[in-house]
Formats: sequence, structure tokens, C-alpha cells
Amino acid sequence: MICKYVFGKPIETGAVVADVAQCTQPLSLMQVEQGPAGVVLSCQMGPKDVVYGLGEQVRGINKRGFSYISYAIDGPIHTENRHSLYGGHNFLIVSRAQKQPFGIFVDNPGKVVFDVGEARMDRLEIQAGSDCVIYTIEEEGLKEVAKSFRRLVGQSYAAPKWAFGYQQSRWGYQNEADVRAVVDGYHGNGIPLDAVYLDIDYMDHYKDFTVDQEKFPDFAGFVGSMKARGVRLVPIIDAGVKIEKGYPVYEEGVANNYFCKDEDGTDFVGAVWPGKSHFPDVLNTAAREWFGGKYQWLMDQGIEGFWNDMNEPALFYSEKRLKQTMDEVLAMKDQNLDIHSYWQLIEKIDGLCNHPQDYKSFYHNKDGERICHDDVHNLYGFYMTKAAADAFCKIAPHKRTLLFSRSSYIGMHRYGGIWTGDNASWWSHLLLSIQQMPSLNMCGILYTGSDIGGFGNDTTQDLLLRWLEFGIFTPLMRNHAAADTREQEAYHFDRIEDFRNIIRIRYGLLPYLYSEFMKAVLNDEMYFRPLAFDFPDDAHAAKVEDQLMVGESIMIAPVYTQNATGRYVYLPQDMLMVCMKSLEGRQCQVMEKGHHYVDIALNEVVFFVRKGHMLPLAVLDSGLTSTADMEDCEYEWIGYTDNAAEYILYDDDGMTTDYTPRSEWKKTVRTKEELAWG
Ligand code: GLC
Repeated sequence: MICKYVFGKPIETGAVVADVAQCTQPLSLMQVEQGPAGVVLSCQMGPKDVVYGLGEQVRGINKRGFSYISYAIDGPIHTENRHSLYGGHNFLIVSRAQKQPFGIFVDNPGKVVFDVGEARMDRLEIQAGSDCVIYTIEEEGLKEVAKSFRRLVGQSYAAPKWAFGYQQSRWGYQNEADVRAVVDGYHGNGIPLDAVYLDIDYMDHYKDFTVDQEKFPDFAGFVGSMKARGVRLVPIIDAGVKIEKGYPVYEEGVANNYFCKDEDGTDFVGAVWPGKSHFPDVLNTAAREWFGGKYQWLMDQGIEGFWNDMNEPALFYSEKRLKQTMDEVLAMKDQNLDIHSYWQLIEKIDGLCNHPQDYKSFYHNKDGERICHDDVHNLYGFYMTKAAADAFCKIAPHKRTLLFSRSSYIGMHRYGGIWTGDNASWWSHLLLSIQQMPSLNMCGILYTGSDIGGFGNDTTQDLLLRWLEFGIFTPLMRNHAAADTREQEAYHFDRIEDFRNIIRIRYGLLPYLYSEFMKAVLNDEMYFRPLAFDFPDDAHAAKVEDQLMVGESIMIAPVYTQNATGRYVYLPQDMLMVCMKSLEGRQCQVMEKGHHYVDIALNEVVFFVRKGHMLPLAVLDSGLTSTADMEDCEYEWIGYTDNAAEYILYDDDGMTTDYTPRSEWKKTVRTKEELAWG
């Protein structure tokens, strides 16, 4: 049951698609207070209650014990003390002992604070803002609450099938030769690869919708030649538009008032990669259509996928703040700085970027209504992505174009996926990535993954291997690294065969992963789930923070600590452990419900098949280079049953948006003997 409560005069965000009447009864699931701080919702949490959700955030699957602030921020250091990352995902589910679970969605695109037991361990408090719509959802189980929420916010985006292949990225590929070297490096070593990303270096002076002619003299020809090798190029698009006379995007934006405005009505100036920039007013329909239309120029050259970045939007500085800060800093030049004034100096410089006051200083024209950016801050990435997605519907109707964003708000999942931003090559970030996946899925974001190997800092061979062993299960499987970090492409490491084997296992699992992803899209379900969602009566399942259910048949338990040669795994039922060092070689062992220590070698993929379930494994040619080579491949079946198991394999053309299964969904039944795992 979904109930809707309206407070103040909320801004229409576009998060919700279902028609829900306003509830006539007062909100009773939580206490409601309305005061100077706006609407404050609160409730007691029992010692065993678990709080799930909040999408892209730090800390665990159970969000208890900390407070989280929905206010999108370009913050690369995803440490435990951070309260905000790049998204605003104001949905959580409270799982209560002896009572039905309930969900809460706060539809307010400004700042919202969730204190999930930080101030007081037994108290959940949500500062929802003065103008907001609150939805409460009560259903019999956790899965059902999540599903009801998804019905409320609409069907998730489905990426094209090629975007489920392995993808390589790096901030620093400069030109054709760099990209070609990556494709040669992978394919030459027998490792499949479906996409290479173009980071900001492909542009002419960081100008959106331009390509540096010296680096890519025949861009369309190059895009075509890579595609002929099964590899798509995926360029980045940034939110900020360079201020430069004669640059058409800048000129058109200024002439038509398509950019966000300062208090005094002039175009707001903030700086990003190209220096001083304007920001398309993506909340304005005309501006959004205009900006979205710009993607066509790249699509006309054969591009089939994009990543939208810096759309919190990130601000290195605002023109006004830079001036003020420089004046203040210069005034300190000849001073004898003591501890206090020295810190002030540091704070001034640090405060230049993403300053809260700057977000309060510019405005949108939301189709006639002037709105301060701060009040709709979390919508910027959503509407930048909608700009592109709406344009794709016109430019390439029915075609699935790859699209994902860094910043997002609930509702954006209908238009694209996200990646989890600038993590680091830290083991703790591998765990964080595992924990973020189900929280994101709850919010509808299914096409997602983290920068495999870690974005910032130098990766290590073992970290990359372990991260890949988890990454083979994430819909977006992209290795991405920051400029000036160690080269992170798999072929730069010793024992290339380990990388080849793991990545080939991804392709082997792809029919299952794609089938489960698409079922999650079409049925409003979660692809990644915490164990308690599938085993609600198992008290221990609710405590497991580092294992996930993936689709209907398997559970994963990734290794995320350095030098570990295995790990403890909790099995909520009897399962079949499948250990693979290569796609062709595997060992299986039935394991009983309970706790186990499992050895998992550095070059080994291990997953667990649920009793009564099975999954297909594609039989692949040793020369496989990309998903393009997987048309009509044969399957083997892995499964565990006392008598017979069945699996419905969803498949479609992977290219269009009508999601018509290629043939009828293929139900396959296998007996215990046929599934022999000995
Ligand atoms: C941002 C993105 C990162 C990208 C970099 C350069 O930090 O999050 O992925 O590589 O910008 O464009």
C-alpha cells in the first residue's frame, strides 16, 4: 500500500510516474513535526531493525549508525566520514522485527538529511525540508516494498547488450593511437573487449560536442573501424560549456538564454575543465531539448553510447568566489600567519570548489518559474541525462543507446544508469562497491557498476583481479583509472591468462546476467539483493554485509581483503559452490546451509547456486573478441536440484527498445542427472 502526503508547495521533480491520490489520513508510520527546520519525520528503531536503501552512499548495506545527506557533490574521497556522494536517492526501507517492513521516499530535490541512528542509536530521523512529498509504502516483505516503490517511479533503463561486455576506460587516452593500442592489447592477448571510453582528452579544449581534429583526423572513420573490430567508443559529455566566442554551443546558449542565471539575470559563470563555463539550464524544456539535440553530432559519426559527467554540477570555483578569495589571500601575503590565520588561508583555498553558497547563487527558469538552484540541486544530473535520453528517442527511435551519468536523483533510472564516481584503488572501495549495488537497485538504478580497479591511486595486480571477480557480475563492467595513475589495462600485468580467464567467465555468464537484468527491468525487481530479501525468516541473513543474491539462481561472496586466500561465507540454504579458474574448467561442490570457510585463489571465480535452481553458461570460442561473436551460442547448464530444475532464459535482440523476446522466453528443464556436478 502506497500513501502520499504533501507538505508545503513541493517542486514537481518527475521522480514519480504512477498516479497516487493524496492520503486523507495523517501520516502515522512515523512521527511528523513541522517547524522552522521544515518537516521532520522520526521513529524508534528496535535493536534488530535494519535500514536498507539510500542508493549511492558510503557505509554498509544496513545504513544504521550514521547520517546521510542527500546533496549531490563532486567528492572523490569516498571515506566513511562523508555524508554525501554524487546522487540524491531519498528512499529507504525499514525492516522491523515482528512487523511488516515499510519504505519511505522523500521527494524533495533540495537537501534532505537522514539520521539513521547517529545522534541516537535507536532513532531514525529524516529532515525532509519544508516543501516535499512523502510516500510511505507498506507491504508484506522487503522485496514487495522495493517492487511497489519501483512501480511508483517507473521502469528502469535497459542498456544495449554490447554494454554488458567488458569495457576499458582511462582518463588519458589522447588519440587514435592510444585507443588502438588498448584494443590491440586486449584482442591481441585473447581478452574480449566491447568498448573503449573517450575521456575529456578527445575534445577540442574540453568543449562539449567537439573532437580534437589533430588527435582524431577522421573521427567517423575511426569510430567505424573500431566497431568493425567489435569495439564501441563511448565519449564523455560534461555539464559545463566553455565560454569562448565563436564556439557554437556557447553562442547559441547565450543567445537563447539557455544557461543558468546569476541573481542579476546574467549568465552564471563557474569553472570546470575548460576554465570559465556556463551551465545549460536543463530544468528548462527548451534548453534541455537544445542541449540534448547536440548529442546528434556525435551520433551521426557512429557513436552509440555516452557518459554524462560533472553534473552535480561540479564547480572548481565561481567567478565571483575566485575574485573574492584571491583578494583575501593576497591581503595575507605579507602577514605572519599563526595557526588560526594559516588555517583560514587553507580553508579559503579549499572552499573555492563546490561551495554551498555558490549553489545558492544561481537560478533556473523552470518553464517560467524562477527557482534557486539550491532548491533543486539534486535534479541537475537527472535532467542532463533526460536531455540526452529524450533526444535519443528522436534521433534514433527504438534503438538502445548506452547512457549513464555520475549525478542522479530518483527517477533518472528511467533514462540511464550511473557509475559510482571517483573511487580509489583501495580494498575498502571494493567492499563499498559491493554494498552500494543493492542499495542502488532498490532505487531503480540497475545499469550500474564502479570503476573496476579503482579510479584514484595506483592499483595493484591482486586488487584488480579481485575487483574483476566481483565486477563480472555488475551490469556495467568497466575498468577506469584517473590520469597519472598506474596503467590499469589488464594486459599490463603479469599472468595475463588470469585476466583473460576471468573476463571470459563474464562472457560465459552473460546470457544469465543479461536475462536476469532484463527480468529485473521488466518486472520492477532488483538484480542485486541483500540476502534478507530472499531469506526473510533467516535471522542471520539480515546481518550479512558482504554477500549478494544476483538474479534468481546465484549468490556471490567476493573476496575484498588483500592477501586473503579465501573467506567466510554464510549459506542461508544448501547450495552448490561453483569454482572456476577458467570458463572451461570448473569444480562444483554441494555445501550445507551454515557458515563455511572457503578457499578462493587469486585467479578464481566462485559463486553459489541456490538449491532447485540452475543457470546457463555460454560455450565460447577461444577466439571470442566481443559480444558480437556471441550470436546463437550454445549453452551448458549448471544447477543443483534433488530432482529437476528449470530456468526461463530471457533474450532479445539487445539493440532495440521494444524488448520483445527473440523467441518465446525459453524455458529449459534439466534433471538432477543432467546437471551432474560431480
Ligand atoms: C571526473 C570523472 C572521471 C573522469 C574525470 C575526467 O573525475 O568522475 O571519471 O575520468 O572527471 O573527465
